[in-house]
Amino acid sequence: MNVRIFSLGQLLAGLIMFLSSSASSPPHDRLKPQSTGRNFHDHGQQESPTNGCDLFEGSWVFDSSYPLYDASQCPFAAAASALNCQKNGRPDHAYLHYRWQPTACQISRFDGRGFLERMRGKRVMFVGDSLSANQWQSLACMLHAAVPNAPYALGSRGPLTTLSFPEFGVSVMFLKNGFLVSLIDRTLKLDTLSSSGMWMGVDVLIFNTYHWWLHTERFRTWDSYQIGNQIFKDMDVMEAYRIALTTWANWVDSNVDSTKTRVFFQGISASHYHGTEWNEPNVQNCSGQTGPVEGSTYPGNKPPGDAVVKGVLSSMKKPAVLLDIALLTQLRKDGHPSTYADVGLDCSHWCLAGVPDTWNQLLYTILVES
Ligand SMILES: *[C@@H]1O[C@H](CO)[C@@H](O)[C@H](O)[C@H]1NC(C)=O
Repeated sequence: MNVRIFSLGQLLAGLIMFLSSSASSPPHDRLKPQSTGRNFHDHGQQESPTNGCDLFEGSWVFDSSYPLYDASQCPFAAAASALNCQKNGRPDHAYLHYRWQPTACQISRFDGRGFLERMRGKRVMFVGDSLSANQWQSLACMLHAAVPNAPYALGSRGPLTTLSFPEFGVSVMFLKNGFLVSLIDRTLKLDTLSSSGMWMGVDVLIFNTYHWWLHTERFRTWDSYQIGNQIFKDMDVMEAYRIALTTWANWVDSNVDSTKTRVFFQGISASHYHGTEWNEPNVQNCSGQTGPVEGSTYPGNKPPGDAVVKGVLSSMKKPAVLLDIALLTQLRKDGHPSTYADVGLDCSHWCLAGVPDTWNQLLYTILVES
């Protein structure tokens, strides 16, 4: 079903662009302190209170002051025009105007200049599949919209795409890595990470892997699994996923200096290929969906990876914050490109502007508050 997972990464990999314009130095915006007591889904060592509200429980409310940017004005949207659904002819607009409202707390509007000030001199890296690219691109557009005259540089080298804002010394990177563990000769080495050398010393790391594990038939890129010297022809794929995530978690526990580096895991982003999940049994996919599921519960089950991610994160020694996007994405059956993508039907990725803007708003909220 997730047949288009590769396309954004491929588009990005082919992209090399350098642009700049002049602008005066921005004034320092003071970050507004916000209330504490939110549940950031910090696992392992608690570094923020968990007895307050949960940012990831809530509902989508219509708010005409959204979206946060016009994708046609985002120079990086060219890199993934597949996700600029308006440009691709999507006729409805309501999906652009929803804001995530946590049930028990208020979150501030995203402050792009505040983000750049706070991250001054720092590197932010999304590591993962094309849903990480989706979030990277959203953040790139959100930041550019906040400082439209600030010079920037965009470059790509192998699997790494880097957007930097020299005035702030901030780099926002996407490192394509679908499994986090190594895939060699169609064997997934569940105990061996891929490209972890590039993670070292990055100030904010946002990891993700899930959708590639679900690939089947001709989209499946592996035939066997390996742990140490043992080869496994067959293994429950969620068990393989759990072992791979544990390998990643052990790297974080052994290599991350929590005083310098913030680690996040982008939770499971929902796909919409079965209307039964949202009580529309005659609907096959996200095509024609123009509004979210109302309220704060989703009729369907959580994706199977959700429990795996939560289990692994809960046993980590170093804090890794879960961006627990499963529910908020499940509710957004209307947020996908559907047929307004470059090819075929896409109910896995997200239109931009759109749902990943909220992931970045929540990322920013957590970064600011702890
Ligand atoms: C997607 O759903 C629509 C409406 O339910 C249906 O007509 C169409 O055939 C579906 N497309 C695919 C590729 O399944």
